[in-house]
Amino acid sequence: MSVDLNTRYGLNSAHSEVVAASSLIDPCKVLDMGCSNGRNALYLSQLGFNVTAVDNNPNAIAMLQKIVSEEGIDNISAQVYDINNAQLTDDFGLIACTVTLMFLDPARVEAVIADMQTHTLPGGYNLIVCAMSAADYPSQMPFPFTFDDGELRDAYQGWELVKYNEDVGTMHNGARLKFATMLARKVR
Ligand SMILES: C[S@@+](CC[C@H](N)C(=O)[O-])C[C@H]1O[C@@H](n2cnc3c(N)ncnc32)[C@H](O)[C@@H]1O
Repeated sequence: MSVDLNTRYGLNSAHSEVVAASSLIDPCKVLDMGCSNGRNALYLSQLGFNVTAVDNNPNAIAMLQKIVSEEGIDNISAQVYDINNAQLTDDFGLIACTVTLMFLDPARVEAVIADMQTHTLPGGYNLIVCAMSAADYPSQMPFPFTFDDGELRDAYQGWELVKYNEDVGTMHNGARLKFATMLARKVR
C-alpha cells in the first residue's frame, strides 16, 4: 500500500532501516526527524503509526501536507521544525532520524541526541542512520557532522542496542562511506 502512495507522488520507498524497525515495533507515536517529503512518514502511517513528521525545509513539509490532505490521512502531522533547537515538546514510542544528523550543526548534535532520549517513552526506541568519518574510512563528503568510530554507541550507554553496526554503504550519488546504524531501546 505504501509503495502505491510513494509511487503516486514520485517518492522513493521507505528507508530500509525504517522498514526493518517497523517489523519489530508495534504501531505507536513516532517522530520522523528530517522527514523530507515523507517517504518514511507515509509508510509508517499506513502501518498504523501515529506520525509527527518534522523538517526545516518548508517546501518539503508543504508537499507532505498536500499529500496528507489529498489522501485524507488522519495520522500524520507534518511541521516545520529546526532539529538543531533540540526542543521537542512531546514524547514518542519511536524516534527515527535517518540520514539527517549529518546535516546538523556539529555543536548541537549532542544536545539533539540528549533531547531525543529524554523524549522517548520508557521501552521506546531510537532509530539513527548517520554518516561516519572513521579512522579506516574517512568521509569524502562535505557533511557538517559525522560520527567517529563508536561515538553513536557510546552516546546510548544504558540503552539496549537492538541493532548496531558501522558498515560501508553507498550514497545515492555512488559515494562510498561508512554509516553508523542503530536501533536502540530505552530500558524501562
Ligand atoms: C537526506 S534527507 C533524509 C530524509 C529522510 N529522513 C529519509 O530517510 O529519506 C535529510 C533531511 O534532513 C532535513 N534537515 C537538514 N537539516 C535539518 C534541520 N536542522 N532541521 C530539520 N531538518 C533538517 C533536510 O531538509 C532533509 O529533508
